[in-house]
Amino acid sequence: MIRIAVDGPGGAGKSTIARRVAKELGIEYIDTGAMYRAIGLKLIKTDTDMNDEKALVGMLEETSIDFSNGRTILDGVDVSGQIRTEEVSAKASACSALAPVRAKLVDLQRKMAASKSVIMDGRDIGTNVIKDAEVKIFLTAAPEERARRRYDELTARGLDADYDKVLADINARDYNDTHRKLNPLTRAEDAVEIDSTDMSIDEVTAEILSIAEKH
Ligand code: DC
Repeated sequence: MIRIAVDGPGGAGKSTIARRVAKELGIEYIDTGAMYRAIGLKLIKTDTDMNDEKALVGMLEETSIDFSNGRTILDGVDVSGQIRTEEVSAKASACSALAPVRAKLVDLQRKMAASKSVIMDGRDIGTNVIKDAEVKIFLTAAPEERARRRYDELTARGLDADYDKVLADINARDYNDTHRKLNPLTRAEDAVEIDSTDMSIDEVTAEILSIAEKH
């Protein structure tokens, strides 16, 4: 059995690379960011005030999140496309600071990773969700490079994008994710750090596979 934890800031390439590694090793990929995004989307759709704890807890009790063939399923509906907007990104980052949200999702993530081989990516996987993971990776890249990748991705999808705005959003999200009180983004002591700024997807994938092979 092998459990691989991949943590790092938004846009470092975690999900693209984790998906590849999962395919190569024939293990399951769990995108925990998608779970926070699904909660963010539900908060927006139901117009729930996330600072009203009673309303938030009530909403969480009535929420189910699952994965099916790499798709994110919220309350039985495939929301994989809808959770990738800037509005949902910001809401996911904001609600991920709240204890009831983290308690529900971390519990779900631990159940998903129980007694099977997985690669899971997020912010607190190696430091909190799977503290005893066999392999821990901390994947980073310079903010300007992460903004350029995100900008390219948006324009390739035919969407209007402004590089400076994308960079400002990335910096704001980095700040939130590293400064929140509960399980902020930080490198686990026993994680291998990979800076992907000047590396291709293939190179990073190969490096993680070679680290995994040693286990
Ligand atoms: O990886 P992502 O950009 O899809 O994540 C969206 C947000 O969810 C991110 O801003 C922080 C939060 N998150 C978290 O707090 N803990 C995780 N394990 C994964 C994501």
